[in-house]
Amino acid sequence: MTNFEYLAHPPIPNFLFQSIIDKVGPGDMLECFDVPIPVKEFVMPFFPDHYKILVQVIYTDLPIHCDNTRIAAYNFILETGGDNVYTNFFDGPPDHNITERLIIEKNRWHFINTKTQHNITGMEKGKHRISITVYEELKLFKPIVIKENYLSIDGYPIVTYPALD
Ligand SMILES: [Fe+2]
Repeated sequence: MTNFEYLAHPPIPNFLFQSIIDKVGPGDMLECFDVPIPVKEFVMPFFPDHYKILVQVIYTDLPIHCDNTRIAAYNFILETGGDNVYTNFFDGPPDHNITERLIIEKNRWHFINTKTQHNITGMEKGKHRISITVYEELKLFKPIVIKENYLSIDGYPIVTYPALD
């Protein structure tokens, strides 16, 4: 499976998602929120009915990890968190050699393979990386700690809060 690909899905109009950007405040590493209903109604016709949709906010760089409840994510970045924020993919385990380094454009749907080790680097202090993320939730994967810096993001409390609007 490829690690990354832009998709032809239609972009979410700014007027539907600006309220999300306006309401994100300080937070800790990574948090997820319910999406406003108009965003959900715009996006979900392009995905299977049982897929989940969340707002994902990243506040800091993320350690190398694989997601453990999904094998793929369909993301749309509203705010990048800085001008030089990289999504990096690594080989292994057990190795951690970087194989791909990407600055993903905002306002473009893309696919990422979340079973390949990846991290986020270059986050600017005080900025947020805000994405709409769509995925098929699977309960198949246990958190694996391979090295000290290899953390399952799903080991962190990903909490779904009430919708932002
Ligand atoms: Fe991830």
